[in-house]
Amino acid sequence: MTVQVAVDFGTSSTCVVVSIHGRDPQVVVIDGQPLMSSAVYAAADGTLFVGQEAERQAAMDPSRYEPNPKRRIDEGELLLGDSVLRVTDVVHAVLARAVSEARRLAGNAEVDLLVLTHPADWGAVRTRLLRQAAGGLAREVTLVPEPVAAAVFHAATFAPAQLNQERTVELSNRPGESLAVLDLGGGTVDVSVVSRAGGGRRGFQVLATLGDPSFGGADVDQALLEHVGGLVSSADPAAWRELVEGRELADRRRRRVLRQDVRGAKETLSRHAYTDVPMPPPFADAHVTREDLEKLIAAPLSRAVELTRAAIEEAGLRPAQLSAIFLVGGSSRIPMISRLVHERTGVVPTTLDQPETVVARGALLAVRGERERPAPPGPPARTPAPPRIGEQQTKIVRGPAAPRPAFPAGPPNRPPAGYGSTAGPAAGAGQRR
Ligand SMILES: Nc1ncnc2c1ncn2[C@@H]1O[C@H](COP(=O)(O)OP(=O)(O)OP(=O)(O)O)[C@@H](O)[C@H]1O
Ligand SMILES: [Mg+2]
Repeated sequence: MTVQVAVDFGTSSTCVVVSIHGRDPQVVVIDGQPLMSSAVYAAADGTLFVGQEAERQAAMDPSRYEPNPKRRIDEGELLLGDSVLRVTDVVHAVLARAVSEARRLAGNAEVDLLVLTHPADWGAVRTRLLRQAAGGLAREVTLVPEPVAAAVFHAATFAPAQLNQERTVELSNRPGESLAVLDLGGGTVDVSVVSRAGGGRRGFQVLATLGDPSFGGADVDQALLEHVGGLVSSADPAAWRELVEGRELADRRRRRVLRQDVRGAKETLSRHAYTDVPMPPPFADAHVTREDLEKLIAAPLSRAVELTRAAIEEAGLRPAQLSAIFLVGGSSRIPMISRLVHERTGVVPTTLDQPETVVARGALLAVRGERERPAPPGPPARTPAPPRIGEQQTKIVRGPAAPRPAFPAGPPNRPPAGYGSTAGPAAGAGQRR
């Protein structure tokens, strides 16, 4: 039996896809969901809980909980409660859970190939760490940049020259054809322009990448939470401060539930014009509207769209020259983002069902396409080896990051901005780690 697994290790969620015996990749359902939380919880006895289990355990002692380990990738070690853990071990635990769930569907057979996705701007240091974290999980490990995987998935979904109903996607499958991928996930905005490398149906290379490491779904939650504070805190300002800043276990537990409810309210506002956030006493429940949310996030979403325009320009293209702009990542469900992309680029963007699973689903296809591609002509000794998919980036520019608002209710170990310790107003600018 041949077992190939792809894991998209995201800031807030991890998506796992398996292909058995060369059959079509299928998303692995974990704890009843197509996405596994990327969270970890370090219990006092040394057990590392992962995913929804970690989220449940977080109620016991939130200081032992890290919801976004990917954001801590540069830190070397994490302090969870009184346990000091190596970041590679923490990431390994998340990947190991993901792989074991995929193996369950394959009768626990060994994994022949594990494909891991990573942001296009990750350089040698972070990608090496990711590889190390996957140690022992498969016979072979390979890496694919997230936007390449997303582009491959879309290319496989839209047959050549097939138009969708809004006539927004017209893929020629010809070498040089370019697409933009705007990935709005849990922790970052990543926009990449990719072009078809030629040869096979599936090979893409990244022409330009820009990103904002200081904005993602978690920051939308944050903005909405502060808005809710503005609505209800006047009833008892001291109680509100305790709720959002208090170090006591009871405060942390109440805060955790509130954060979950706020995130749920945000997601509801992508489908409904209003919703309510249940509040702990002494506060009244908060009524929030999509209009409120749009005002709160208009500036960062505009920045994301400006980054998209800038990445297209970096790639030496105009929006009209692209075959499509694809939206991926869970936060791309926010309706305002498609509207802004259309207004500012003139291109109606395309989103597929379950935009948070697109990267993992494309990753296996990308690797297959790469392996199926015919070898370049010419004697091997004089022909440069085709780039490995994980090394295809040709131009990586990190966009300026807006300062992440300091919010005291965040998990105690979370850095204020960016990935890990490179935080700051220009976190990661010009650097590839
Ligand atoms: N209906 C929705 N409306 C708004 N946001 C949503 C919706 N559904 C999911 N999200 C948000 O999408 C985010 C998770 O998206 P995704 O799984 O793509 O991120 P990730 O891959 O973990 O992060 P990253 O790509 O930044 O590393 C969460 O913040 C979640 O609240
Ligand atoms: Mg993602």
